This record gives sequence, C-alpha cells and structure tokens, in this order.
Amino acid sequence: MKQPALTPMSLTAILGRIANEWETRGRIFDLPSARIWQPDPDIDLSVTFAGRPAATPIGPAAGPHTQLAQNIVIAWLGGARIFELKTVQVLDDLDIARPCIDAQTIGYNIEWSQELSVPESIDEYVKAWMIIEILKRWEPLSGHLGTDTGPHIFDMSVGYDLAGIRSPKVASFIETLKDASERIDVLRPQIPEPFTAFQDFEFPTRIADTVTLSTMHGCPPDEIDSIARHLTDDHDLDVVVKLNPTLLGFDAVDSLLHETLGYDDISLSQRTFDDDLQFDRAVGLITDLRSHADSMGRSFGVKLTNTLEVNNVRGWMPEDRMYMSGAPLHVLACSILDRLVTVLPGAFDLPGQGGTSPVTFSAGVTRSNVVDTVAMGVAPVTMSTDLLKTGGYGRLKPMLKALTAAVVASGASTLQEWRDASYRDAVEAGHRDWLQQHVANITGEGIGPYTMEGNAKLPRRVDAKLQMWGCTACNLCVTVCPNGAFMKLPSPSGLADEIGGRWQYLVVVDLCNECGNCMTFCPEEGDPAQIKPKLYLDESRFDNAPGQAFHLVRSGSDVSVTAADGWDDQLGTLVEVLAGDQGLPIRGIDL
Ligand SMILES: Cc1cc2nc3c(=O)[nH]c(=O)nc-3n(C[C@H](O)[C@H](O)[C@H](O)COP(=O)(O)O)c2cc1C
Ligand code: SF4
Ligand code: SF4
Repeated sequence: MKQPALTPMSLTAILGRIANEWETRGRIFDLPSARIWQPDPDIDLSVTFAGRPAATPIGPAAGPHTQLAQNIVIAWLGGARIFELKTVQVLDDLDIARPCIDAQTIGYNIEWSQELSVPESIDEYVKAWMIIEILKRWEPLSGHLGTDTGPHIFDMSVGYDLAGIRSPKVASFIETLKDASERIDVLRPQIPEPFTAFQDFEFPTRIADTVTLSTMHGCPPDEIDSIARHLTDDHDLDVVVKLNPTLLGFDAVDSLLHETLGYDDISLSQRTFDDDLQFDRAVGLITDLRSHADSMGRSFGVKLTNTLEVNNVRGWMPEDRMYMSGAPLHVLACSILDRLVTVLPGAFDLPGQGGTSPVTFSAGVTRSNVVDTVAMGVAPVTMSTDLLKTGGYGRLKPMLKALTAAVVASGASTLQEWRDASYRDAVEAGHRDWLQQHVANITGEGIGPYTMEGNAKLPRRVDAKLQMWGCTACNLCVTVCPNGAFMKLPSPSGLADEIGGRWQYLVVVDLCNECGNCMTFCPEEGDPAQIKPKLYLDESRFDNAPGQAFHLVRSGSDVSVTAADGWDDQLGTLVEVLAGDQGLPIRGIDL
C-alpha cells in the first residue's frame, strides 16, 4: 500500500498539543515563548496588499511552511502576517520523490505542489485560520503577543493550467476559502478544552479573496493570460502572477550566476528558458492584465519570483531537474524587478512609481537583507529557504526586530514613512529609487552574501552515528522541520544516564513527509526521521509501516503505546520518556 505522505492532525489534536505544550513548558510546537513576536506599540509595521491591511510585511512563501495548519500557526506566532498558501492544483495525488529539500547551502527542492488532497488542503487552511483567531484571544498568550496582534492575510496560490484551475475541484477550493462558513461549522465541535468557549465564536468566514498564480511546472505562457482573466472574472479575485526567474533570459542568468556570483556548480538548461514566458511577452501580458483588472474593479500584480529550474548535478535528491532558491535568486529577482520598473514606469505600487499594481516578493530574503528588501516598497515579502535553516520559524522575529530598528533609526514611526524616506535618500544619492540602489549594491560592493563563496559553509558535522536514544541534542531537527514533526522531551531523571543526554527527540510520522531537511542539518551520521522513535497516530499507517514504529492509542484520557514487531524492547524506555516530567505534548488525539 502507498503510504500517504502526510496525515494532518485534527483541530482537536492541534489545539490539545498547543495547550499542553504551553502549560508544561511555555512553547508551542516547540517555538519558544522568546520567539513569539510582540510588536512595539509605538511602531507601525503594517503594509497593504491589494488594499488589504497586514500588521507586518513578512510571511512564509508558498511552500513547505504553508501546507499544514500548524505550520501557518507557528509562523503567525513568529510574527508573519501574510501567508502565501501552498499551491493547490487539480493533480492532488502526485507521488513526490524523496528527499525533496536540500537547503544546506542555498536552496534546492523538487517539491511540486500540495501533497494533500484539495479537500484536505481546504481544511488545513480553515483550521489554521480558526486557531489564529483563537490564539489571538487566548488569555495565557496575551502577555507574549501584546494587546493588538493586528490584521493578517491568507493569499491563495493555484497552478498550473487553465483546465485544472477551472475544474470543479479547484473552483470549489477557491469558493470555499472565499466563504468558509460551512467548513468552520463542521470543525467547531472539534474545539477541545481549554478552548471550548470558542465553539460559539463568530469566526470571520472570508478566509482569502486574493490569489497568486504559480506559473511553474509547465504553465504555458499563453495560458497565463486566460487564467488570470478567469480568476478575476469568474471568481472575483485580486490576482498576482508569480513570475519565474527565466524572465531575465538565458544569457543574463548565465552571466549573473556563473560570472558575477561564481556558482560554477549550477547547471542551466537552455530549454527551460525557451519554454517559459519571454520578457517582452511578459510586459505585454502585464499591461493587458492590469487594464483588464482595472475594468473589472479588481487589482492585478506580479510576484518576483518562483524558483529557477536547473539540472540536478548534485545527485542528493532524485530526478533530473531541481528548483533553486535562496541567495542567488535574490539577485535575479531584484534584477528582473528593476527591468520591469524601467520598461513599465508608473505601473507598480512602489515608491516613486505611483502605480496601482502590487509587487510581492520572495527570493533569498534573510534577516540580513529584509530591511533593504522591504525598503524597495514590495509587499508582502515572503520566504521559504531561510525558514528551512537552523531556527526555522524562530527566524521571523529577528527580521521584524531589524525592521523595527530601521524604522526607529530613521526617526519615523511607520513603515510607510520610513520607506518614503529610504526612497528620497536613494534619489538624493543619484538612483532612480531604492530598488535601483539595492541592485547596484548586491551586484557591487554588497555582493558577498549572494556569491557561491558566501554560501559555501556546510552544516556542522560530528563524528557520531545517530542512535534512537541520546544524541548531540542540538535541537536542529526540531527547528528545521517545516511541519513541526519533531518534538523534544526531557529524559526522565532515572533514565538520563542510561539512554544518554538530557533531551530525547521523537518524530510524529503522520506529519513527516520525509523531505530530508532534518537529515541535512543533523550533525550526526544518519537520518533523524528514520532513526529516532517514529510515533504514529494513524492506525492504518502504523499497520503498514515498515520497520521501526510505535502507535499512540488513546483510550479515554489515557494514551497507550504499542510497538511494531521486533521493537518491544524499546517500549519501556519510550513510555517512560512520554510520561516524563513535561508529559506527552499531545492530548485529545482524534483517532
Ligand atoms: C520546498 C519548496 C517548495 C515550494 N513550493 C512552492 C509551491 O508549491 N508553489 C509556489 O508557487 N512556490 C513554491 N516554492 C517557491 C517559494 O514560494 C519561493 O517563491 C521561492 O522558494 C523563493 O523564495 P526563497 O528564496 O525565500 O526560498 C517552493 C519553494 C521551496 C523551497
Ligand atoms: S521530520 Fe525531517 S524529514 Fe520529516 S518533515 Fe520534518 S524535516 Fe522533513
Ligand atoms: S537528532 Fe540530530 S539534529 Fe536532532 S537533536 Fe539529535 S543530533 Fe541534533
């Protein structure tokens, strides 16, 4: 039997885990309370996206951090206020090869789109939406979130062809997120203690009414126009088209990546560029779609950029092609935006342009360049690769602190005032705008962090073979997992010496899609997702599990554990760890 890649947790289980973890150790899905974003009440970091307000300009890009409900919730706790939901498409039973993420230097992946069925994706987004509304008002968190968490935006992402997007499956996805009242009512009764008062809460029902069209994976250029019109006309959505870095053309990308940035290990294929949207066609498309959206009373914008398709010469992931993200993509995306602004003056909603089309951005944004990126005027600024690195969702708060510090240092009190001041400074320095100044910087004096040399450092290694119990206890598997699949529990005092170390690490297999990211970062030799105790909540998955596996079964308020054949000798230790000082961080398991 084919194992499902992911088995989402029920609303009951997620909220139960949140309450338990918070009560027992002040964490939520292992995000420590110190990494929860609390805004400075005197500094307004808000932006608008297609006319809608968001309390901060940053969030996770469509990808591994916006697929499961808890991912979105953890990002929100970290300060994200705009979420580009994982792309949904009609082919929702794809078999994605593993491992599919390699983020040890820059980023590469072979992930396609959602690994859940479309109805499952709907429920993940609705659950995340409901949990955020609950946590906003949950008294125990109020001292950490501040008095006003501010508005947030869920932006849908769909792909990859017109027929698929028109299909009843994808159409129903879009319409359900526009009015989720029915799904919310189905999920309400699942809200457990201590949140049951929220069963009667009036959740806002319009979860999303903007969409980003992902044009990767064979979305033919001529179809982009029809899809954007369909989304505007038939679904009444504000639309953003996510452009690909191929727009810059083979020669320019080849020269930037290889000569300017020194990535002699990136292999391009001319065919990728030939098959994709060409720059001149894109300019025509943007012009037409802007005026069409305008005539329909809607907005049309662009997103820079999706990943770059390259030849898989690394061999760590399967498949011939892979998709590059991270530092070098930042240079490509900014260069494309600079060209677009030059040829379409007055089109975009950017400082000095005075246009109406939003520009959203995801390409190699990190704590080091988030200030310069947001200063360009793009919003939202979303990221995937950076959140896959050590610290995971905990990396969002330092970005917001850096933005707050930049606003304060300029003497402004709002992000908008600071951006306007940055624009004026750039003009005074002889540039068209901050965007142009930033491009000059990242291809000139400030090129270092974008080069191959600047990204050559590999994760730390130690000379040790990973075992089920005990390890370096660096916590990396916990923080780099986009799905919150790893958890850490203290070793029971009587057992610490025997099994090694103060902390033990366990993986909830239902949430693990074997993406490989924890294996890349674990300093010991071996795959944590396979070697650490594998806990199954879903019985049929447990029954079909090959090798090491433990099943958590709930009976009343008790949780019991069974072991797969041959693993009984580990059961005693596992039960002691799960029943240790800080307890099992899962309760209300809905089997
Ligand atoms: C593992 C992974 C999966 C992704 N999945 C999607 C997707 O489903 N849809 C999409 O439009 N972009 C997807 N992306 C692209 C990101 O949304 C983002 O645009 C790109 O990675 C560049 O940002 P970054 O440099 O911060 O990673 C994915 C990226 C990664 C790394
Ligand atoms: S546990 Fe590891 S392999 Fe599994 S989803 Fe998380 S990072 Fe990926
Ligand atoms: S399993 Fe590996 S990554 Fe996880 S805590 Fe242990 S040593 Fe660190």
